[in-house]
Amino acid sequence: MSDGRTGPLPGGGAGGAGSDVHAVAAAAFEEVASAADLRVLDAVRARYLGRGDGLLTVFRKRIGSIPDAEARRALGQTVNALVERLTGAVDERRASLSDVGTDGASEAIDLSWPPPPLRRGHLHPVSRVFRDVRRIFGQLGYIAVEGPEVEYDRYNFTLVNMPPGHPSRDTQDTFFIDDDRVLRTHTSPVQIRSMLVRGAPQRVIVPGKVYRRDYDATHFPMFFQVEGICIDEGIALSDLKGTLEFFARSVYGADRSIRLRPHHFEFTEPSVELDVSCAMCGGKGCRLCKGSGWLEVAGAGMIHPHVLGNGGIDASRYSGFAFGIGIERIAMLAYGIEDGRLLYENDVRFVSQG
Ligand code: DAH
Repeated sequence: MSDGRTGPLPGGGAGGAGSDVHAVAAAAFEEVASAADLRVLDAVRARYLGRGDGLLTVFRKRIGSIPDAEARRALGQTVNALVERLTGAVDERRASLSDVGTDGASEAIDLSWPPPPLRRGHLHPVSRVFRDVRRIFGQLGYIAVEGPEVEYDRYNFTLVNMPPGHPSRDTQDTFFIDDDRVLRTHTSPVQIRSMLVRGAPQRVIVPGKVYRRDYDATHFPMFFQVEGICIDEGIALSDLKGTLEFFARSVYGADRSIRLRPHHFEFTEPSVELDVSCAMCGGKGCRLCKGSGWLEVAGAGMIHPHVLGNGGIDASRYSGFAFGIGIERIAMLAYGIEDGRLLYENDVRFVSQG
């Protein structure tokens, strides 16, 4: 800052003062152009254009003391033009810094400014149902375990009573990995794995992903099931019924109708299906329930003695029931979702509906 004051006085000659002022101005333009934020820009402006001792301002003040009228006028015009250009450059730079919002330092954080509305995330409907299912069966003393998604053909089919060549294999549109391995088509192979590991008695649920070559409003190539197994001495179909009723009431509320329908599965005997009255139409019949008023949400039954035997459990002493719940069905019913594909399309307008 002392430069301007101690530099050669304009009176020393018009040429000398003129080149001085140009050098000062050149430095000023450079600093303005490189000012990184508004705070620096203000400092640059004050240094060169400040009222009292700005480096360009002092030239202006000294003009009057130049004896030669010609030189005085020439320097006056030069200084005025430079001040005007520099002021313009400062204004321009200020505008561009404000535009891009890089003036972080000069714009101190205003802690009194109200925050933008807080957008809370939430769990995906499928995750919520999973959480509920774990909680409900947890109350009944079930533990949750996992099994592999790439599964041996043996576990996926043979050991649950679906030997090679068995017609029931055709109903499972299987993704094959190689001759021995598949993407599991259901969580039932974990029945065998759990029996071999835990023996009897046991109460286990197996939440997990399963895969089938299917795709429409209610079927997806990857979907979620929860397998359940309860093995002990004296377990009967009535225990299964009570358990499924407890589950259905906990999920849907006591006002929804439930029915157990006789069915056939290879790994259970007898077998049933659990239907719940359709949430979309209240039981009148719609696209979701294909006009029947009911939606099938689980398959179940008494574990076939062969399957118990394949799991290393003495079927003459122990009996058990098993069930397989379709998680998407539960979510669609619980949230009234007509097309289950919405669950996996990740359209943010769908998944962000609280
Ligand atoms: N594994 C069957 C399926 O994917 C569902 C199932 C039915 C599981 C009956 C069971 C059961 O444990 O007992 O279609």
